[in-house]
Amino acid sequence: MRQASWGIWFALGYLVAAPSPAGEPARSPGEVFDAAAAERGRIALTLQGFLKPEWSESAYRRAGRLWDQPAPDPGRDPDGYAAAFRHRYGLHPAPYPNDGLPMGLRRGIGRDGVKSGLQIDCMACHGGSIGGKSYVGLGNTQLDLRPLLNELTIADGRRPPPSTFVLNTSRGTNNAGMVAAVLLSLRNPDLSFRAFPMPLGVNLPELDTPAWWLLKRKRTMYYDGRTDARSVRTNMQFMLGEKTLEEFKKLEPTFRDLRAYLLSLEPPKYPFPIDSAKAARGQVVFEETCARCHGTYGPGGRYPNKIIALDVIGTDPARAKGLSDRHVAYYNSTWLGAVHPVSLERKGYQAPPLDGVWATAPYLHNGSIPTLHALLASSTRPRRFTRPPSTGFEHYDTTHVGWRFTEVSAEELASTARRSPFQAKFIVDTGRFGMSNGGHTFGDDLSEDERMDLIEYLKTL
Ligand code: HEC
Ligand code: HEC
Repeated sequence: MRQASWGIWFALGYLVAAPSPAGEPARSPGEVFDAAAAERGRIALTLQGFLKPEWSESAYRRAGRLWDQPAPDPGRDPDGYAAAFRHRYGLHPAPYPNDGLPMGLRRGIGRDGVKSGLQIDCMACHGGSIGGKSYVGLGNTQLDLRPLLNELTIADGRRPPPSTFVLNTSRGTNNAGMVAAVLLSLRNPDLSFRAFPMPLGVNLPELDTPAWWLLKRKRTMYYDGRTDARSVRTNMQFMLGEKTLEEFKKLEPTFRDLRAYLLSLEPPKYPFPIDSAKAARGQVVFEETCARCHGTYGPGGRYPNKIIALDVIGTDPARAKGLSDRHVAYYNSTWLGAVHPVSLERKGYQAPPLDGVWATAPYLHNGSIPTLHALLASSTRPRRFTRPPSTGFEHYDTTHVGWRFTEVSAEELASTARRSPFQAKFIVDTGRFGMSNGGHTFGDDLSEDERMDLIEYLKTL
């Protein structure tokens, strides 16, 4: 069997024609929102792909033969097969024309610009759903990335590449940072290809994917807040598998438009009733306890863009520590880091804006906490917990806000893993590398009434 090349997972995909944002146009600090660029970005993402096909089209239909459960016949029951495929890999229906493929998977650009074969795109991680509705820009908290890549490759009669790092141990998290770091290590400083990786000492953990609609409020981005949020080139890292420096330069204007499009995205509104008297009391609690880090909301809302030191925030340190100084210096010496170099200071984690936070459970940068209530009462956080089988509202908890879960013992996890590795992926184990659920204890001193008021307020953001 030929071994897969792997450089090429990430193409840009179709993006949904999002409803135009209500009220104020989106604006990044110090920037004027450019609606024409955003529209070009939407169209570029909707109509173009950027990467070569990685898999044949028939890999999609053949993957079902590898599952431990019998799959519907893709020829006789294409809709049933499509639903089973989405469930298997944690993908969602595409809210835009996508050749019948789920969001996150799309046709690649073959020779002569003709679309053929399959490729994965940004929305594999950045396209999610909630309550049966798909959203471009909602982090995909169902994704099971490793089997998706491996099984498409095996379905094509090729051997998946050996794992040199953990891509994901459970549903929803993914190790995008390590993918980018490994791809960069296979380039020289002038971005020409290297035969052997540059040893850069990166050791990043799997992560929850942040919502794109938060970008417009940020001055710095990524969980550690070390990259200027205006950086366009940083979004191009996933093309390091195949593009030459000349090709990168040619695509930069398109990625500038793409970023403008990301700035136009808005969070979905909480769809259930909200007790406004309770929420008003919660706002007072929020402004006293939380706003100094997370900012204020509504008209005139301010986002302070604070990066909180590890010893203050106390959440899992692996992401903050895992980006080595050598890697950062190397990135900064290339075209990618020339305009917006990554900060050399390693501090901790950025306190994110909380717009649309009701829709983005599980919480923290590693998705280690299933509900807002557990986040705000640290002694109740489960050590091992189940992820929902889908993002349907029947699995949503409107009281604690987030996903309903069951706490799982070590023995139950081990026996599930023996019985079905597929089912075991629905269990998060916070004992794993990078997955600790400790820290962020700022809600612990609240009374239970204050906490519930606060949660009611968070639904309004
Ligand atoms: C394999 C999953 C995956 C894919 C594919 C992916 N991303 Fe991401 N993205 C992530 C994760 C995880 C983070 C958080 C990384 C961190 O902070 O360390 C992230 C962060 C970001 C951010 C910063 C958001 C913020 O507010 O800090 C932007 C912007 C972004 N991605 C854009 C893109 C674009 C554009 C593409 C396609 C070219 C893409 N991503 C493809 C997983 C992915
Ligand atoms: C000292 C600064 C600070 C204070 C005070 C603070 N937070 Fe945070 N908060 C952070 C940081 C930093 C993170 C990111 C930590 C991480 O992901 O590891 C965070 C993460 C969160 C998240 C998770 C967001 C997500 O999408 O995963 C929520 C929700 C949150 N905070 C709510 C609150 C509430 C409510 C309060 C008030 C009780 C509060 N925070 C007080 C700094 C703070």
